Amino acid sequence: MNYQTEHDCLCWGGVNTRKLAEEYGTPLYVMDEMMIRQAAADHTEAIKNYFGGNGRAVFASKAFCCKEIYRLLKEEEFGADVVSGGELYTAVAAGMDAAKLVFHGNNKTKEELSMAIRYGVGLIVVDNFYELERLNRLAGEEGVTQQILLRIKPGVEAHTHAFIQTGQIDSKFGLALETGEAMEAVKAALAASNLDLQGVHCHIGSQIFDTEPFGLAAKVMVEFMSDVREETGETLPILNLGGGFGISYLPTDDPKPVAEYYATIRKAMEESCNEVAFPMPFLMTEPGRSIVGPAGITLYTIGNVKEIPGVRTYVSVDGGMTDNPRYALYQADYTATVANRMKKAKTEKVTIAGKCCESGDLLQEHMDLQPCTPGDLLAVFATGAYNYSMSSNYNRIPRPAVVFCKEGKSRVVVERETYGDLMRNDY
Ligand code: LLP
Repeated sequence: MNYQTEHDCLCWGGVNTRKLAEEYGTPLYVMDEMMIRQAAADHTEAIKNYFGGNGRAVFASKAFCCKEIYRLLKEEEFGADVVSGGELYTAVAAGMDAAKLVFHGNNKTKEELSMAIRYGVGLIVVDNFYELERLNRLAGEEGVTQQILLRIKPGVEAHTHAFIQTGQIDSKFGLALETGEAMEAVKAALAASNLDLQGVHCHIGSQIFDTEPFGLAAKVMVEFMSDVREETGETLPILNLGGGFGISYLPTDDPKPVAEYYATIRKAMEESCNEVAFPMPFLMTEPGRSIVGPAGITLYTIGNVKEIPGVRTYVSVDGGMTDNPRYALYQADYTATVANRMKKAKTEKVTIAGKCCESGDLLQEHMDLQPCTPGDLLAVFATGAYNYSMSSNYNRIPRPAVVFCKEGKSRVVVERETYGDLMRNDY
């Protein structure tokens, strides 16, 4: 990987990380604003190229949610997918046009559904029959016709390096195709007087490297849309294929450029549509990780370095599973560097430990790193997605600040939590 450096120090968004640590403290989430904008533009551009404008991407808020990301993505003409009242509230408070929001969730509460209707959310993705009925009633009470998609289990499940085609009935999300449940739901949705069924949605997984599963999902979904037309006479206009575009965490990771995913999707949709003489649907996608993941790094101050002869070396940092639970949860891979020793070779094998009272509080094991001493700065790469958004206050540790950097300038977009913040709701 190629990084900008200054006096042996890593720079991010044109700002020296040593200066960032001095100014804002550590741990610190740092995001390169131009990388986020470029990633968003890559999706927009690819959709323009392969779908001629007959499609759009919305940002999956769960990857990184705060007011500023919505303001920034609004400038990039992005909408967003939200999965809770909290994400919805933040998006609208930040000035996102509710009509450009897609509301997800397998168990949205009545309050969340009412809120979405009142805010004028563009599309609510209905997950199940209970929700369908409830939403129809609530929309009726509000005197509106709510546009919806139905969440379908397409039977294509993708993992990072492989994908499987299964019945996949066993998922808490969505409606199964092969049991007839999905078709039943379509009929129920079409019969619901306060709902306007616009199309179907599926999400086949996250951090997917292969483009093929997207093609397969597109094919299965178009075939279902054609079946719907046959059974009900309705030609649904929208196909939403969710998120899942992979990013690089390790030097060996080699995800395809997003344009290749869209090329595959386009080809599969075109072929399937031609086969059954179905008009090309409007394509939606919901990228999260690929928009914000690579743009983020986390800076930590290294504390004690504990060498256990013949066992391993623990390098402890001033954060951990509270700001990045992904290793503890999924053994997720990361690459890191000693940000103030960029010219040194990575000659050590170390385990990065957090500061929580928990043995499993590790950020990475057996990782190559430069020799380091207390006071050095550790930068972990590709932490822009699912880090801040999955952070916690375990051990009453305040959440770090989030700083955006652009062309050598930095600004705080989320303040570091204080001890006072931690007690705000305590009696
Ligand atoms: N749309 C739907 C309906 C989703 O469920 C998800 C992710 C996305 C879009 C965005 O997917 P992306 O483009 O970010 O892959 N916490 C896990 C990731 C969970 C993703 C869940 N759904 C992690 O840290 O890896």
